[in-house]
Amino acid sequence: MKRLMAWSGIIFIVYLLFHAYGNTHYLQGEIAYDHYAVWLRSLLEPLLPYEGVLWILRIVLIALILAHVVSALYLWWRNRKARGNDKYEVKKANAEYFASRYAMRTMRWGGIALALFIIWHLLQFTTLSLTPGGEYIHGRAYSNMYYGFQLWWVYLIYAVALACLCLHVWHGVWSALQTLGATRGNTIPFIRLIAFIVAFGLFFLFMIVPTAILFGWVDAPMAAADYYPQFCDAIGSSAEQFAECAAH
Ligand code: HEM
Repeated sequence: MKRLMAWSGIIFIVYLLFHAYGNTHYLQGEIAYDHYAVWLRSLLEPLLPYEGVLWILRIVLIALILAHVVSALYLWWRNRKARGNDKYEVKKANAEYFASRYAMRTMRWGGIALALFIIWHLLQFTTLSLTPGGEYIHGRAYSNMYYGFQLWWVYLIYAVALACLCLHVWHGVWSALQTLGATRGNTIPFIRLIAFIVAFGLFFLFMIVPTAILFGWVDAPMAAADYYPQFCDAIGSSAEQFAECAAH
């Protein structure tokens, strides 16, 4: 179960590194960013249908999250059962004890906060069921993000969630590598460094775009009449997926 938790966490982090890097395409402008979103959906065409890779990715991500949560719950339950009524009556005044207890608590609450964030995130940007800041339009990812991050509280939700992610990944990478047997003798400082770089790297990479939007460092989205001719032209044969392209 510990191995399952470690591997599912590591693979999810690899996805997040790609996601964070992908988001930085935002700085190249509206057409480039939305084109990138279409390109992701058209990967391996015609071997797979449009959005085929995206659906495979979604299934893999759901499986990873389920594996991660179920193994966490199982380990927590087994731990409790093994401990029985022993509620640590004798508290050792030992720094290591407090540190591990603190990390454990933040892992649990941080994990729950992240699960709630992922639900919010999918409702906002994938299903477009929650549309803070404006009218969201399917396919116009640049515009949807632009209007969402005009609001300070949307920015704050992301900043807090990413801080939770950073702490979770910081401890998680260390913990996972330990479970998988990578922490032996002189590798420890190196593993600590990797955990730190991945965790804080994710935080800063993800925060670049919301910060640029909130502070007005990027261009506002185009009006539909200017946007669709350029977008439909840029995406080539994928234009058949968009009713708006037929009209232009
Ligand atoms: C500043 C931070 C983030 C921004 C601006 C952002 C933005 C986006 C956008 C715009 C999409 C939709 C892309 C599209 O439909 O073309 C998306 C999808 C997604 N994001 Fe994020 N994201 C951020 C952080 C995260 C984090 C921290 C997680 C996970 C912990 C995450 C997980 C996902 C997932 C699972 C999808 C769904 C892909 C799908 O099925 O369509 N994102 N993100």
